[in-house]
Order: sequence, then C-alpha cells, then structure tokens
Amino acid sequence: MKKIALGLTSVALSLAAAQSQAGEVEVLHWWTSGGEAAAINVLKDEMVDAGHTWKDFAVAGGGGESAMTVLKSRAIAGNPPSAAQIKGPTIQEWGDLGFLTNLDDVAEAGDWDVILPGVVSEVMKYDGHYVAAPVNVHRVNWMWANPEVFRKAGASIPTTWDQFITEAKKIKAAGFTPLAHGGQAWQDATLFEAIALSKGSKFYNSAFIGLSDKTLRSQDMIDVFSTFKQMREFVDTGFSGRDWNIATSMVINGEAAMQIMGDWAKGEFTAAGKKAGIDYVCYPAPGTSDAFTFNIDSLAMFKVDGKEQQVAQKDLARLILEPKFQETFNLNKGSIPTRLNMPRDKFDTCAHSAMDSFLASSTTGNLVPSMAHGMAVNSMVQGAIFDVVTNFFNDDSMTSEEAVDKLARAIKASM
Ligand code: BGC
Repeated sequence: MKKIALGLTSVALSLAAAQSQAGEVEVLHWWTSGGEAAAINVLKDEMVDAGHTWKDFAVAGGGGESAMTVLKSRAIAGNPPSAAQIKGPTIQEWGDLGFLTNLDDVAEAGDWDVILPGVVSEVMKYDGHYVAAPVNVHRVNWMWANPEVFRKAGASIPTTWDQFITEAKKIKAAGFTPLAHGGQAWQDATLFEAIALSKGSKFYNSAFIGLSDKTLRSQDMIDVFSTFKQMREFVDTGFSGRDWNIATSMVINGEAAMQIMGDWAKGEFTAAGKKAGIDYVCYPAPGTSDAFTFNIDSLAMFKVDGKEQQVAQKDLARLILEPKFQETFNLNKGSIPTRLNMPRDKFDTCAHSAMDSFLASSTTGNLVPSMAHGMAVNSMVQGAIFDVVTNFFNDDSMTSEEAVDKLARAIKASM
C-alpha cells in the first residue's frame, strides 16, 4: 500500500516538475496540404503530450517561398518564432545573421553525430555547432504515375526523356493529361533539375554546385532546356499557378498520367488512402535511376527569451530525432527517416526504394543536393535560376540558346 502511495507521489511530482518547465513553441512551416498537415500534426501532438503549448505558424505555399518572406519580416521586427522550417545553405545565412541558437547539448545527449548520415549533420551545423534538427530526407527525382491511365492509353512507363515524349503523345491522344504540373517557379525548377540530372550527376553538380560557366553554356544544357520546353506540350491549359498537391490529385483521380515531384507527393496518395504499387506507382524520374536528389527538411531554432520557452524548444529538437517521431512523421510525409538504422517494416515499396537508393548513391557520388529545394545554392543564386527557368517555360519565343546565355549571366550577377 505504502509502495503504491509512494509510486503515485513520485509520478505526481515528476508531472508537476514537467509542468513547471512547460513552455510554448511557435513553429513556422509551410506544411498545409493533406499529407503535410498529417505529418506536422505528429510533432504537435508529441509536444502537447510533453506538456508544452504549440503555436502553429503555417504559411501556405509549396516550396516555402511565402513562408521565407514572412519569416524575414518577423525576424526584422525582432520577433522570430522559436523554430522555422529552413533548409540547406539558407541555415548558414540565418546563422551568419546571428539569429540561431546552439543545440549542441541536445545533439550530444541524443548522439546526433552517430545517428545521422554525414551529409545530413553537416547541413544542420553552423560554424561547427548544431542549430537545426532534421526531420526527414526527401528524394526529389521521382515520377508518380497512375497505372490505370497508362493501361487505358496503351502506354508504357518511360525510363528516358525520349521515351517520355513518345509515351506522353500516346497518353495525350487517348484524352488524358500526360503531365500533371503546376506553373509555379519552384515546380518548374523541380522538373528542370530532374531533366538536368538525366545528363549525369557530374554535369548536375558542375552546373548547380560549381556554377561552372562552361557547363551552364554547354550543348548539354541547351538540350536540357529543349527537353524542358517540350514538356509544355504535355501539360493541360490550366497549369498556371496550380498548387503541386492539386497536380498530384490529377494523378490520383485518373485525370493525368504522371507527375515529376519529390516524395511529399506520396504523402498526398497516402492521405487519399491509396496504396503504392496498386493504385499508383513510383519510378525515378526518367534517366535518373542511379541518382538521388536529396532535400532534407529541418527546423532551425531561433534564440528565444525565457527559460520555459528555451526548455520547450530543446524538447522539440530532442523529439524530432526520436525513433517514434521519425517513423510516424515520415510515414505521413512520404519521405524517409533521417535517422540511420530505423526499422523499415512499416514503410512501403517506394520508401524502401528511396532508402536503398540513398545508401547506394552516397557511395557512387550520385547523391546530389536539390537546387529547386534550396539544398545546392544560396537563396540569391536559386532565385536567379528560378527566374530564367520559369520565364523560359512560359515564353514561346525564347530559344534554348538564349536561355543558357541568360542563365549563365543571371547566375554570375547573383554571386
Ligand atoms: C519541402 C517539402 C514540402 C514541399 C512542398 C519542399 O521544398 O521540402 O517538405 O512538402 O516543398 O511544399
């Protein structure tokens, strides 16, 4: 009896201790589609279970451009959120400005240097110190397809861009939209970088990491632009401004055959109750089966006032790398866990394929950072590439030769 009473007392005491440390985290993100919201809700629930308050700061807009604009104005006003979805080289930009807080104690307690692949932990550090926590790894060079549409059109899944064009013509003739696409700069860039990657990861890295003038002006780059322009023939007339998840729903409901999009698209299929390999199929974007374009989502932590808010922020960082969160979040998000050696049994065949490809490509040099998703270049260079790519896609009179010239010049001016 006494033992039980003591037990209860200690539970009550530890609950009281936890509550006295309870704080609020304000989290800025752009995860507002069905699959994305299901994923971020996992983190929200875990924080609430840990006794904290979650203040949601969602800024709609795929790719995060609007979210970044809002974040800048909040930071300039001296009132940044506790955490924000910031990625790749942009983390360094915020670090340079002195906004980010040090997470080394959480990282050390959680063994982040051991449980994270080097390519991930490098990006999470500013000046050698952890300032951000990674939630996942997305593969960007995916093609999502509706097998029923292919069957009806008598078409086969293309594995090169030439085949894509041949099969897309059949699909169009059968009355379907071959390529579900949304005319937004980041979506155009996602398609463009997939085509560029089909020229090989050496070419890709030279263009989008090395920013080599020679590569940017090469015949290969002219060909990339030409193939990219051909894709216009295969999108429907309503593509302008369309959100990526609406494009995914066109594949889900059988209006369109394919979408070239990162595996956050899988989150939409999952949210719609669809099964990989049955209702939809995933293939690497044509010509890129050996490569993996990575896009790591992470929450960077800002300096905040108040002991409780700091405790809550560190709890947030800690929870993100816990195996339970890594599994549930990524099942909903469509991505793969960023934590190494996680059990694979709950993940589907597309996720298994991404996991295998991530490991294989990291040993062959074919693991490349996504330019379209802020992993390869800083935001200035990325903006310059986006402008040229999207203007070219929408301008019937611009030739591929003119486009490479504009690209090389715009990149040089932004550096
Ligand atoms: C992010 C994903 C997100 C997608 C669409 C990407 O840049 O990394 O997490 O789902 O944009 O908004």
